Parts: sequence; structure tokens; C-alpha cells
Amino acid sequence: MYPLQRPRRLRNNAAIRSLVAENTITVDDFIVPLFVVEGKGVKEEIASMPNYFRYSLDVLEEEVKELWALGLKSVLVFVKVPDELKDNAGTEALNSEGLMQRAVRKIKQVIPEMVVMTDVALDPYSSYGHDGIVEDGYIINDKTVEVLAKMSLSHAEAGADFVAPSDMMDGRIEAIRTILEDNGFVNTGIMSYSAKYASAFYGPFRDALDSAPGFGDKKTYQMNPANRKVALTETILDIQEGADIVMVKPGLAYLDIVRDIANEVETPIAVYQVSGEYAMLKAAAEKGWLDHDQVMMEQLMAFKRAGASLIASYFAKDVALLLKK
Ligand code: PBG
Repeated sequence: MYPLQRPRRLRNNAAIRSLVAENTITVDDFIVPLFVVEGKGVKEEIASMPNYFRYSLDVLEEEVKELWALGLKSVLVFVKVPDELKDNAGTEALNSEGLMQRAVRKIKQVIPEMVVMTDVALDPYSSYGHDGIVEDGYIINDKTVEVLAKMSLSHAEAGADFVAPSDMMDGRIEAIRTILEDNGFVNTGIMSYSAKYASAFYGPFRDALDSAPGFGDKKTYQMNPANRKVALTETILDIQEGADIVMVKPGLAYLDIVRDIANEVETPIAVYQVSGEYAMLKAAAEKGWLDHDQVMMEQLMAFKRAGASLIASYFAKDVALLLKK
């Protein structure tokens, strides 16, 4: 009771504020998404993601060294697949000489200690731009899961430390865990996109990979933004099926979901601050309407406060550079 209690005492200077801070942001928290393309010497900026690039493997080598030098120790790899290699079966996804498999080997060769995570979903490989096999206009579950399991095995064989299924098919974590175990990849982890919502915040990412759905939307597999409880159902299923890390996606608009899950499970929780969240801040900062670095740090702190321990973010390098200053 005032004046016995004056909460401002703990805010009076920077030293005391940091002493009582409940959360901190460090480079250890981040997973860096990487977009990889075929070719040589390619570093193309993504139009809707200022200062974010697609790299060919030779340039990727330099980028990965730079990330490691900044203290960033984990990457999440996405590939942009040439149109002529796309079909409705995910054939190219299983190619041991495919771009993803070569990217994993390249990163591991350059920095063996880097934690390499791979995106597992069919959309970059799909002629329909969907995360699974399409039959009669519907994304069918079980046949898709079979391909996702084989794809995960192929990534593990290439040297991935974690596979990260982002597709939202039912039962895929168990299928992936089983195929990895059966083939001796007992230490290959699974970071599951457990609570992934059907979100318009993914727009810039689909530009980056040219992977927008050719028909319809993703609402029959990704979750309905109106719903809260199913996030816990999905997350607990994934943990029971063998997920090592669970994820909530997108980030900022779904902090209630992060907190719900943090209250219920002990598995590490990742949050994905998605492409649209990145684009919004970059655009506002370019116009001079928001302070880029301060808003960036405030948003990231919100993820930690909500209960996430890992953050996949396109701001990772910006943060690492800022923290170095
Ligand atoms: C595809 C995938 C998407 C993202 C990650 N994996 C897009 C989608 O589901 O349509 C989005 C990431 C982002 O927006 O940054 N399986």
C-alpha cells in the first residue's frame, strides 16, 4: 500500500531495471531463416522483405560464416524450387541431390557446429503451391504424411540436426519420428510447427519462395485464427508423437497461444516471427514512423515474456549486430 509500496523504486535507473528484469534477449535465442536458390553468385533481395535475401549455395557459405561469427548458432533452411521440378507428389523433395539436401551438406561442411534445421512441407515443391498432395481439390492427409516422412529421412541423411515440419497434416510427427528411429537417426530432432495458424502474415514468405497456393487457401490444414483451445490439443499431440521442440506461428498476434502452451507443457517452445511481421516493421521504419531497433526489441521481448525460449526471426542478424554495439 502506498507509500509503503512504490513500484517505481525498481525502475529508477538502468542498473536496477536490469537487475530485476525477468527476461533478456541474447543471440542464443535465435533461429535464422535462410532462403536458398539455384545458381552462382546470387544474392537477391526479396521485394516485400527489405534487406532479406535469397542466396545461391556459394554465397550462402559466406553468409553462414558471418552468422556464426555473430554468435548465431542455428539456421532454418527453405528452398526456392524451379517450376519445372514441381509436381503433385513431392518427387523433388526426396532427391538426395536436391537443393535442400545440398544446402544442408554445404552448411555442415562450412560450420559443422551450426544447428541446421530444415523446412519439411511440400509447398515449395508443389505444382499447386499446397503443403500436401492434392486430390479433387482437397489436400489429402495420409499420403502426404508418407512423403513428409521420407523427406525428413532424406534431410537427416544429408546431415540436418532437426527437421521442422510446417505442413499441419495430422500424424506427421509420429510418422517422422518412426522413420528416423527405424533408420538409426535417433539423435535427429523434430521442431514441430504445432500451432500454426492460417495467416495472411505469410504473404511476403510466399513471394520469397514463389509458393503461394495456386487455388483456394490453407484453411483445411492450418488452424483457424478464431480458435484458442485447439492449439493445446495440437501441441500435446505433437509432444506425444515425439516432437522435441514445439512452435507457435505467427508470433505477435498469437502471444495468448504462446502463454497458454507455456502454462501447460515443459517442452521448449519456439515462436516464429513471420515474414509479414518483419515487413510491417521494415515498412514503418522506412517511412520514419517507428523506431526500428526499439520496436524490434520490444516485440522480441514480448515473445520471451509470453513464454517462448526460441525465436525464429528475420531480425536475428539485426539483433546480433545491435547487441554487439
Ligand atoms: C510453408 C511455410 C510457410 C511459412 C513457413 N513455412 C508459409 C505457409 O504456410 O504458407 C511462413 C513463414 C513466414 O511467413 O515467414 N509450409
